[in-house]
Amino acid sequence: MRTIEPGQLSIPQLQGLLQGAIAPRPIAFVATCDRQGVVNLSPFSFYNLFSAHPPVLIFSPALRARDGSSKHTLQNLLEVPECTVNGVTHAMVQQTSLASSEYPRGVNEFLKSGCSPIPSIQVSPPRVAESPVQMECRVIEIKALGQGPGAGNLVICEIMLIHINEVILNEQGAIDPYKSDWVARLGGDWYARSSHGLFTVPKPLTTLGIGVDALPHSVQRSTVLTGNDLGLLGNLEKLPTPEDCRTARLQMASVDMTGVDANMTGVDANVTGVDANMTGDALRESGLDQKAAGEQQVQEQERVHRVAQKWITMGKVKEALALLMAEEASDH
Ligand SMILES: Cc1cc2nc3c(=O)[nH]c(=O)nc-3n(C[C@H](O)[C@H](O)[C@H](O)COP(=O)(O)O)c2cc1C
Repeated sequence: MRTIEPGQLSIPQLQGLLQGAIAPRPIAFVATCDRQGVVNLSPFSFYNLFSAHPPVLIFSPALRARDGSSKHTLQNLLEVPECTVNGVTHAMVQQTSLASSEYPRGVNEFLKSGCSPIPSIQVSPPRVAESPVQMECRVIEIKALGQGPGAGNLVICEIMLIHINEVILNEQGAIDPYKSDWVARLGGDWYARSSHGLFTVPKPLTTLGIGVDALPHSVQRSTVLTGNDLGLLGNLEKLPTPEDCRTARLQMASVDMTGVDANMTGVDANVTGVDANMTGDALRESGLDQKAAGEQQVQEQERVHRVAQKWITMGKVKEALALLMAEEASDH
């Protein structure tokens, strides 16, 4: 592990490191205008949602690391405390990046990036037509976090109106991550894309899991089971009954006996040849010395953990815990 105090690094080094560490970040494509109504458009990934009631988002135009000068977006917001915040999809990521170029103040990045402005209803800056979610915002507060280069400025905004293009909605009216195809920023030149690599984790809202601390110690300390495996096991609402454990053990034994399990792949390759029902006592009785018996016990435990892991990946989490508990009971 490397341990770093922020002061040990230069500001660009520290910023680069933190941008890699706190990632991926959503991107706000922010339109503002100055007192004369000259429009500006720039992306900001120091951005997120912070409240639903009232609806509040925050983004941060930092003072330039190079010379501590302030960005046009910040200057405009100090003159006219209104903006539109537009989501960035993969289809518009190159134009968004182009709009981040350091054009002189007064240059309208809608024109430079080729994005299309559409008038807002409640605020003066326009919205980005290409973005499927456009939010009209009023600034509640601008909080400077420092004075020098790299210092952020929290722009705390209340969302007054939300415009959503129906093409990104699913049948239930929720935003579909495949259809929206949002992009997010990581460190360096890296971006992530919401339609790629998606997976779901059901929220434990209605259930109260037993917790990893309720699992047998051998399971908590397993060299086979991963943190995700433990998380799924700990999310079960109750420990298995002795009957569940017996059934799981029989299920595994029957697989061993027939040697055929359509669902099992790599797990079978780990079979040690030890009978699945053999307990520590049985091993000792078989004439093996204590060390060998101990080693075999460890191997057997690993084998059971591998089978349980396989069952977890198949969605048979309850059965997996029953098997692990049966193995624990047979060991002690
Ligand atoms: C995807 C992306 C995200 C960015 N996020 C931020 C940010 O959160 N804060 C910031 O100060 N600059 C950020 N930048 C850089 C600004 O967009 C850039 O400095 C821009 O020139 C500012 O424009 P302005 O001076 O017209 O406001 C980002 C650039 C890109 C491409």
